[in-house]
Parts: sequence; structure tokens; C-alpha cells
Amino acid sequence: LAAMVTNFLQKYQLQNHHLILPKKQFVTYAVYALIVLAFLHYLLFYPASASDKSVVAQVQQEVAPAVVSARVGAREQLLPPTPSPHQGDEALGNPLAEEEAPAPPPCDYSDGEWVPDARPPLYNGTSCGTIKDGQNCMSHGRPDTGYLYWRWRPRGCDLPAFSPDAFLGWLRNRHLAFVGDSLARNQAESLLCLLASRSAPELVYRDGEEGRFRRFVFREFNATVSVFWSPFLVKVAEKAERAGVRHNNVFLDAFDERWMSRLGALDAAVLSVGHWFLIPGVYHDGGLVVACHDCADLNHTETDFFGAFRDAVHRTLAEVTRRHGRGAADGKKKVVALTTFSPAHFEGDWDKAGACPRQRPYSAGEKEMGYTEAELRKIVVEAVRVAADAAAGSGLRFAALDVTALANLRPDGHPGPFMHKDPFASGGGEGAVDRRVQNDCVHWCMPGPVDTFNEVLLQTILR
Ligand SMILES: *[C@@H]1O[C@H](CO)[C@@H](O)[C@H](O)[C@H]1NC(C)=O
Ligand SMILES: *[C@@H]1O[C@H](CO)[C@@H](O)[C@H](O)[C@H]1NC(C)=O
Ligand SMILES: *[C@@H]1O[C@H](CO)[C@@H](O)[C@H](O)[C@H]1NC(C)=O
Repeated sequence: LAAMVTNFLQKYQLQNHHLILPKKQFVTYAVYALIVLAFLHYLLFYPASASDKSVVAQVQQEVAPAVVSARVGAREQLLPPTPSPHQGDEALGNPLAEEEAPAPPPCDYSDGEWVPDARPPLYNGTSCGTIKDGQNCMSHGRPDTGYLYWRWRPRGCDLPAFSPDAFLGWLRNRHLAFVGDSLARNQAESLLCLLASRSAPELVYRDGEEGRFRRFVFREFNATVSVFWSPFLVKVAEKAERAGVRHNNVFLDAFDERWMSRLGALDAAVLSVGHWFLIPGVYHDGGLVVACHDCADLNHTETDFFGAFRDAVHRTLAEVTRRHGRGAADGKKKVVALTTFSPAHFEGDWDKAGACPRQRPYSAGEKEMGYTEAELRKIVVEAVRVAADAAAGSGLRFAALDVTALANLRPDGHPGPFMHKDPFASGGGEGAVDRRVQNDCVHWCMPGPVDTFNEVLLQTILR
């Protein structure tokens, strides 16, 4: 497999030399080319299975109290004066508030720093039953727990801790859907666990491998959360490597009706895509190939993936607005939130034990956002601005969950080798960094930094 990676990379570099890409872009592409193979494995072929919940409890009980007590003092000093941002509480009890034009964002969550926080997570691998196996880091024997004790402090304002009661209060008699790739699923599963700390969800529908389509109901609240698989938002014929099809064929002029056709039933949608645009893809529009990424073998002109990404996002949001028309009959305002790109943190060889070995967040300014990540983020933020302008007064509200910067500073929040249970059990030991094991430095441990995405989501829907 290592040889495959090398070949792939060499071919890739060759290809990019031909195109004489700017150096910055070239480096980014090369890095992503390397990541790609890792993706192929765990995004597509990595089997979901029931989580094993035994190990965590002990490890955490031994380590956590020490961490907590050490950090309590630090946190008190670091806590900002709390401006009590209960924005949106009025909207909960006052239906008229929902008719008003969207207020400017009261707090910019996109920029800030991670500060120590002694509060334990709202859930863990023992208390939440819906953690995907590959993200159940504690149960898989991840020995350090320090990565659990941080909170995001935006510059100049406060991000309130997640409140399951506030979220379920909003979600009462409503239906929220997550639409996108495995990062969308990661965020959905984080929300389910956060809410499960207050009320147990019931799985009422499941279809597709790895639960690509699922619906959960919180009976007590008649609240529904569903998950739709749609890694490009628009229509795709997914690659099938076993059948020799290495490219996704994406149709920019056709929508993905698996979720689009359900729009009428939704009160809120969280769209999260990006990573699949980085893997080999052919993009079609009006019967023509308009973009192609990593496709020398197909005789199509190589393009970057930013244009295709921009098109897919813009067209999707325009179609959502078109189908929404002049608003739902009941006058309820709908929210469409887009999670911005969530950066990966591979540092060395993706299949070496220490592919994302850090155990602490980066401090503010320590880690600049990469070129690709920054571009993909910007495209989403701009698409949301355009869509919001076009939908003004329609009862449809677009918002960006601008998590790229906060996620970029969390190299410590990925499963790494702990995507598998006890990855070092068969010898080698933890010190053996030469050991080749699969690493996931893309998705997020649960609990972990992805829970913060949902803190931002809560403030966004309440606004
Ligand atoms: C897991 O969460 C439950 C419920 O909140 C709690 O009682 C338990 O102590 C937690 N376990 C660990 C290891 O933190
Ligand atoms: C339950 O929630 C659904 C939305 O998921 C809504 O359409 C329905 O009206 C709700 N039922 C009641 C009794 O309010
Ligand atoms: C690409 O072009 C070459 C030369 O014209 C041709 O021989 C080859 O069959 C083409 N490959 C594909 C996949 O169309």
C-alpha cells in the first residue's frame, strides 16, 4: 500500500508539473493526494460495527480527575467576563420574532482560541450508544484524555456551552437533517449524543451501508433528526474501485433527490461537504465534462476542484431557495446551515502510528490555515452570503457554521490509530511509531472538538 501511495504521489506530481501550478497549490494538492488513499479506505470500506464500551471507563476515571483539578485554576483565570448571550431565547417563546429580518450575527465564532475547560463532556462511549465505532476513541483505548478538556473562546464574545434542553426546546415538533459526507455524519452523531444526555433518541429508519440514511426521533419532544448521505450535494455516480471505476462522476446540473425531495418536510438542514471534491472526480454539466480532478488517464483537461465545489454549493442553495418558494404554509422559518471545511491533520505517513500524534490544541496563531482549507471555507461563506441575499424575506435563513479555524487548531481531536480498537495490542506497543497502522486524522473523536460544531449550530438556530 505504501508503494501505491508513492506511485500515486509521483504520478500526481508529474501531472501537476505539467500544469505548472503555483507552488503553494502544488504542495497542497500533493498533500491531499497522499491523504486521498487513506480516505478511500475509511470513508468507503471501513465497516461500521457496534461499539465496545468496556475499556474507556477505567482509563478515564484514572486520568480525568487529575486533569480536571489541574485545570480548574487555570480556567478561572482564563474565563472571559461573560456577557450572557442568550440571543434567540425570545424567538423561542415569540413566534413573531421569527418573522423579522435576520439580525446580524451577534458573535463571530469563526476566530478565537481554545482554552482549558474543566467541565467533562456531556457524553462518553459508555453513556451514548450511537458513536460510530471508528470515532469511539476512548473505548478504543486512546490513553490520553486531555483533548476532552478544552472549550472554544471566540475573540471578543462567548460561545455558550451546549444546552440539550435549549436544543430540544427548539427542535420540538421540528425536523432537522444533516446532509453530506462522513463529516456531516460525524457532526450528526455528535448532536445525537449531546441530545441523548437529556432524552433518548429512537432509531425509526435506517437504509444504506454504514447507516447512510437514518432517522431518529426524540419521542418526548416529537423532535426528529435525520442523516442523508450526499457527499457532493448534487447528483453523483460514485466511484466503484472494485469495478475499476476510480472517479466519481458528478452531475452539476442534476440534484440529489434522495435529500432534495425531502426539503418540504424539513425545518432545518445542516449541509457539510468538501472532502470528496479532493478525490478523483469528473464533473458534468449539460452533457459536457466541465471539470476533472486527477484524471490524466481519462484524457480530460485537469482542473482544480474549487470551481466544481463552488458550482455545486451555489446551485444547491439556489435550488433550495427555488423549491422553498414563498415559504411554508405554517409560516415557520426554515434554517439552512452550511458547515465550513473541516481540516485534516496528517503530519507524517498516513499509515504510521503517529500520523496525528499531538495531544494538545495549537495555540492561536501557531497553525496557519492551509491554502486548500482557506479556499474551501471562503467558497462556502460566500455562497451563504449570496443565498441569504437571494432568499431575503422568503422565510428561509442561510447561515455558515464557520468552524474551519477552530477545527484547524485541533490536531489532537482525531482518532489517529484509535479508529480501531487497541491498535497496538498485537505487539509493537505505543512507542513503536514505525508500526504501520491505519490512522484517521480527518474525522473527530467523540466526544471531542466536533461537539463544538454543534455548540455553534445551537447558537445559529436560536438566533
Ligand atoms: C460517562 O458518562 C456517564 C453519564 O454522564 C457518567 O456517569 C460516567 O462517569 C462517564 N464515564 C466516564 C469514564 O467519564
Ligand atoms: C411532530 O413533528 C413533525 C415534524 O417532524 C410535525 O410535522 C408534526 O406536526 C408534529 N406533531 C405534532 C402533534 O405537533
Ligand atoms: C486517450 O487518448 C489516447 C490518444 O488519443 C487514446 O489512445 C486513448 O484511448 C484515450 N483514452 C481514453 C480513456 O479515452
